[in-house]
Amino acid sequence: MNVLIIGSGGREHALAWKVAQSPRLTKLYIAPGNPGTSSCGENVLVDVSNHESVIHFCKEKKIDLVIVGPEIPLADGLVDSLSDANIRCFGPSQAAAEIEASKVFSKNFMARNQIPTARYVTFSDFEEAVDHIHKIDYPVVIKASGLAAGKGVILPETLEESISALEAMLVKNEFASAGTEVVIEEKLIGQEVSLMAFSDGEHCVTMIPAQDHKQLLDGDQGPNTGGMGTYAPAPVLTNELLKEAIEKVLQPTIDGMRREGRKFIGVLYAGLMLTKDGIRVLEFNCRFGDPETQVVLPLLETDLMEILEACVDGKLKDINIKWKDVAAVCVVLASKGYPEKAENGKLVTFKELPKDLFCFHAGTKFDGDKIVTSGGRVFGLTALGNDIANAVENVYSNINKVSFDGMQYRKDIAQKALQGAK
Ligand code: AMP
Ligand code: GLY
Repeated sequence: MNVLIIGSGGREHALAWKVAQSPRLTKLYIAPGNPGTSSCGENVLVDVSNHESVIHFCKEKKIDLVIVGPEIPLADGLVDSLSDANIRCFGPSQAAAEIEASKVFSKNFMARNQIPTARYVTFSDFEEAVDHIHKIDYPVVIKASGLAAGKGVILPETLEESISALEAMLVKNEFASAGTEVVIEEKLIGQEVSLMAFSDGEHCVTMIPAQDHKQLLDGDQGPNTGGMGTYAPAPVLTNELLKEAIEKVLQPTIDGMRREGRKFIGVLYAGLMLTKDGIRVLEFNCRFGDPETQVVLPLLETDLMEILEACVDGKLKDINIKWKDVAAVCVVLASKGYPEKAENGKLVTFKELPKDLFCFHAGTKFDGDKIVTSGGRVFGLTALGNDIANAVENVYSNINKVSFDGMQYRKDIAQKALQGAK
């Protein structure tokens, strides 16, 4: 099979790395890819926002399956355009991607389908939103409804901060169209887990649960980022809680989306908060998580292509998905200045990595025959181990094998799993 992966980050490098191992693969293309994906297949320059160019490329190269990584092309309807042109594609339609692209849709969907989530109200009028803030007596989180590259969620400490977040979104237009509607929801307390599931629109099969680290600094301090590291499995999601998540969250979501004419084929990502009152959904994403994919795919035993094809063909229940009985930890190596203003163009040097260590490229580019940094999150260094402690030891003892000027990373990835924090 000829396969095209869309995207250029760490998630897409992990996808390309896994797809490249498939016995079903003939030729792999990645658009646009990065220097890491160029060792798994051929990077190609296709304008992903121009659906006709993608269709033209797929026809010319006889692509049998397209895998869409990021949310923007999904929310943009790339899967619909490709399907209309009879090109097979793994990922949700535009209508199904709304579960991530509109937090207002997603919250209302959860409410009408009895899927547990934080109490909320939605607003598009500033005065009404402020009025609501004055009336309630619990801490809140304020979310821009649309896609905001991970920056649309504000956790205010004070009433003033709440009002200024609302003002930034509804009055000053600082989040552009993403911020014309907002969700004000109750702030929840607990540990977070990222639970992703493959879905063929009818059935879903969960992947190994992972935990992300959103804040920049050790001890969950500093500003929120796209994610500074992950590990899997996340022991905090016990088998009992996993069962609850499937029964109360994932399967009802797949069923509800189908009933509402938004059949969900692809990866459904549930960001869950494990509260003392039970599981609550923080958000849904309509795609593989980044950097969760960098720890989950190295644990997958089964051929990923077999799973993706089964999803597209509506045959997920006919296959048996197997996982390796080991653990994985990924530490993100970020540029100086990230997340506010990352430095770029720094030369990267590599030393040979031992087996069971993978350096997924996220923000790099070629400069002649050299590799330089080109983004905030530069690499995700993933190590396998017999257990989390062993994987932590493997990743941190090899971290100096990759280096660039100004490199910063968290030193405490997976500590919550090791300390058994609740
Ligand atoms: P989201 O993009 O909606 O997952 O939000 C980004 C991050 O904000 C989450 O990973 C949580 O750490 C935090 N967050 C979002 N919603 C809530 C909530 N209702 N209560 C507490 N923290 C939240
Ligand atoms: N790691 C969070 C996300 O993929 O949105």
